[in-house]
Amino acid sequence: MNRKEFFRSGAGLIAGVSFLSERSIPAEGKGWPQVNPEDEQFWMFVRSQFPLTGERAYFNTGGLGASPYAVIDAVKSKIDELEKISETGHTEELWKSIKASAAGLLGCDTGEIAFMRNTTEGINVVCNGLPLKKGDEIITTTHEHVGNSIPWIALQKRTGVVVKFFEPSTQSAKENVIRIQKLLTKRSRLISIPHATTTTGQILPVKEISELAKGSDIWLFVDGAQTAGMFPFDLHEMGCDAYATSGHKWLLGPKETGLLYVKKSMLDVIEAKFVGAYSDSGFDFQKNVLTFHPTAQRYEYGTVSIPLRAGLGAAMDFIQKIGMRNVWKRDKSLSTYLFEGLGKIPLVRVLSPESDSERSAMITFTHDKIPYLELQTHLNKFNLRTRGVAEGSVNALRISCHIYNSFEEIDRLLEGVRTARKG
Ligand SMILES: Cc1ncc(COP(=O)(O)O)c(C=O)c1O
Repeated sequence: MNRKEFFRSGAGLIAGVSFLSERSIPAEGKGWPQVNPEDEQFWMFVRSQFPLTGERAYFNTGGLGASPYAVIDAVKSKIDELEKISETGHTEELWKSIKASAAGLLGCDTGEIAFMRNTTEGINVVCNGLPLKKGDEIITTTHEHVGNSIPWIALQKRTGVVVKFFEPSTQSAKENVIRIQKLLTKRSRLISIPHATTTTGQILPVKEISELAKGSDIWLFVDGAQTAGMFPFDLHEMGCDAYATSGHKWLLGPKETGLLYVKKSMLDVIEAKFVGAYSDSGFDFQKNVLTFHPTAQRYEYGTVSIPLRAGLGAAMDFIQKIGMRNVWKRDKSLSTYLFEGLGKIPLVRVLSPESDSERSAMITFTHDKIPYLELQTHLNKFNLRTRGVAEGSVNALRISCHIYNSFEEIDRLLEGVRTARKG
């Protein structure tokens, strides 16, 4: 049943009520209906897998993703299991299996993945591990999230590297490649860009930028906070040297989980600086011998929360159960509906790219007559959770559309924006 038929039949309401009361449907096993991205009832079922309250429309996945029961239960049951015996629960097998899921989702090898606490930690590993010195130039955008700003500014202050900026054009992907090209000099060592900007959600042409980086003999780091779990891609095909992402955004994992990809050939280039148990494959303190772990595990150290990592594994299983392509299909149809709806409201300016291939599931807009924070306060009254975007002086509102959102919630948002115009 497609969207129109679904709502016309009144089944939407009935299915909504019954699915939302079926919290006990297990994430694994028989409870799952057939996956069908065209069927609204299927998406109602997906929504029922989250404890998210129905009154509040949650549009801030770009800030923090909601976790499904499957993830919450995986974390809780791991805590219960481990606290009975007071063990860490760390096993090589568990580590490998979760990393294999991540590698499958991101298109890389298991040994190229390290667990992190968030995207920012991954950025710090790369930023502080690369052999950069005074005068070396780093190219980035003016639209970075603070997590991909502060580590580089701190490095600039500490070591004298030079950070150079370009403003991302939302008009054309190609223009961004040209803007980077114009900043290249003999001192350029690294390009650090987001896969999708935190500001307008623009998907940057990472493959082309990676070819430019390779041709110029410099490194490419990609801040992937906004893309893992939103759409399918393949890191090997993208060609970047390192990529960091969060488990607690589009992947829907537990809070304080992240992943770092480091290309195999870069493992000995990006030096592990924070190290300890698990970082090595052998050491002798007195003989001054240390061999780093052959994989990206070298960036991990010390005791960590196994329940959180088990939860991240459950989150990736949940996404894979729906299918990454189906997730993207859904996110794309919701965000396109929003993009088109906002475009019809007078005085509203949509800042996210027109081009379908550059537009992610995050739509950013502003109102010519209402300051964005005032508009946000107005939308709060409708129980609509939006995110203000101050980065890059964009001063706008960002709406993230993910699998637990519905067309009905987007209609509520559009209505909220329309009434703000009258108010
Ligand atoms: C592009 C980008 N990079 C980095 C971050 C920081 O993510 P985390 O808090 O998981 O480190 C965010 C968070 O919104 C982001 O949008």
